[in-house]
Parts: sequence; C-alpha cells; structure tokens
Amino acid sequence: MTLNEIAKKMCAKGKGILAADESTGTIAKRFKNINVENIEKNRLNFRQTLFNSSAMKDFIGGVILFDETIRQKTTLGPSIPELISKHGAVPGIKVDKGAKPLAGSNDETVTEGLDGLRERLKEYYDLGARFTKWRAVYKISDKFPSAQSIKSNAHALARYAALVQEAKMVPIVEPEVLMDGSHDINKCYQVTTNVLNECYNELEMHKVDLKGTVLKPNMITPGSECKDKSDAKYIAIKTLDCLKKNVPSDVPGIAFLSGGQSEIESSKNLNEINKINDSNFLITFSYGRGLQASALKEFGKNQENTENIQKAFNHRAKMNGLSSKGEWSEELEKEFAA
Ligand code: 13P
Repeated sequence: MTLNEIAKKMCAKGKGILAADESTGTIAKRFKNINVENIEKNRLNFRQTLFNSSAMKDFIGGVILFDETIRQKTTLGPSIPELISKHGAVPGIKVDKGAKPLAGSNDETVTEGLDGLRERLKEYYDLGARFTKWRAVYKISDKFPSAQSIKSNAHALARYAALVQEAKMVPIVEPEVLMDGSHDINKCYQVTTNVLNECYNELEMHKVDLKGTVLKPNMITPGSECKDKSDAKYIAIKTLDCLKKNVPSDVPGIAFLSGGQSEIESSKNLNEINKINDSNFLITFSYGRGLQASALKEFGKNQENTENIQKAFNHRAKMNGLSSKGEWSEELEKEFAA
C-alpha cells in the first residue's frame, strides 16, 4: 500500500483512530481514577479487551500504541499488532518521547525524541507499525504560545515526519493547542492558525509528502474556563473554517483529538463538523479519552467482565463512526445505549 492509501484507510468514512498510546505515566492516572493497579498485566488486559471488540472491524481504521504495547503478546494467541490487523485496522505507534521544558521559555514545552528515531522506526516497522504519532503541545495565555515554542515544535514535527516517511510509514502530525484557560474561541482560532501555518511551512521545507500524512488537531473551542460557552454548531463552523484556510488540500485525513471534552461532547462536535464538511478532507476522530472513558469505568468495576467493557467501547466507537459521517444524533445515542 502507498502512504496515501494507508492514510485513507486510517480515516475511511465511518471509521476513525483509537488513541491507546497512553504512556505508563498517563495510564497510571487513568487507572488511579478507577482503583486499578498500574501493572503490565492489567494494561495488557484492558487493551487487548478493546482491540478484540466487535466494533474494531466496522469503526476503527487504526490504533495508536505505546512502546510497551506493540511488543506484547496477547493471552488470546496473536501479538497485539497481529490482533489489530486481524480486525482490519492499521497498527500505529507513538514515537515521541514527550513534551519537555523548553529552555529559554518559562513554562512551555518542546517535544523530544528525534535522537535515534531512524533506528527506532525501523524496529517499529518490523513489529508491524504502518503509521506513527508525534504530539506537540501549546498553551494559551496572555504570553503563550511564544514564537519560540511555535517554531521549535514545528521544526521537530517536520523532522519527525520526514524520517517516518523515509521509513515507509504515515506520520500523524499532532500540534495540540490545549483547551486549558479562560480564553475565548477567537483566541483559539488565532493561535491554531499560527501553529498550523508554521507546521506546514516546516513540513514543506523538509519535503514531506502531505498526501502521505494525517493531521491530528484540536477543535476550535473556547478555553475550558471561558465563561462564554459555544454551541456545537458554532464550534463546527469555526473549526472547519480554520482547517480549510490553513491545511493544504493535499492532506487526505484530519483526525481530531478529544483533548478533555466529554465522550458525548466529542461525538457531538465531530458530528456537527461533518454535517457541514464541504472540503475534500476525510474528517474523523483519533480519540483517547473520548473513546475509552466509559470502557475504563467498566474495567474499574470488574476487570474480568469482558462483555461489559466491550459493550461500552463498542457503543462509543459506533457513535463516533456515525459522527464521522454526520449521522450521529442524541436519539441514536440513547437508542443504542439502551
Ligand atoms: P485525547 O483524545 O484523550 O485527547 O487523546 C488523544 C491523544 O492521542 C493525545 O495525544
């Protein structure tokens, strides 16, 4: 398959991406909330339960894994990447080494992980990965994000993407403008515009073939502490407008992060965006919390109750599958949950 074909498969209409690439530290926070011990056996059990769900075949085009997970063998027989491929989804891998303090800028980060990346990519390809993820993080405040943070993160994203394509995998380019803060929706629009522009300048400079990439952006929303809430229709208008103006049309797929939105909010917003999507972009989800929150809750109640955990995951995957076609509704949400 060409990189463009892989990117389109990951974001195919009615499907999206499951972001199950929480680092050991991040999954520790999720497990703490549900009183589950953060040990390898439990991490494997939760993840293989999701990856073996019936929803995988119909609604999941790709799964992003963490380094530990891509190396694991399931207790069901196949390895984790084999299990995912068996269900028709593409296995992927998070390759960044996290957002680290940016020297010279108080309180901002730059994502690290370029050293030795070429060698690691070869290993991940051999383990079955066909796409990768790298997440840059930007804060909004009076002073932030600084030009230094926008430029250094874009540069790293572009060098990452170029190496990934050299290794014959599709890079997910994830510049996440955080929701934290009291800023309004226009500020989010402006910052996201600046961030996307710098990213695509650098991607072009590093000769990345945009047809073989997927963008993973934030939606355009007010900050989580902003008093003026926006409805889903307005979020959709602003988000689509920002993407159409700032993402080159060669990019085949755009898969949003949920970024702290609730499960319902993230389905509803994605649905509104797809209802008015008049671009050529395949627009879908690449959710972590937006797909897993209910399933995690069930896992916390009883780790052995595979049926209930899968039921919760199947439901969210189906709902987001509908949203990726603009066919979700609150009525269907209730009907299928019953
Ligand atoms: P959330 O959907 O929980 O924001 O996670 C997506 C992700 O992969 C962040 O990098």
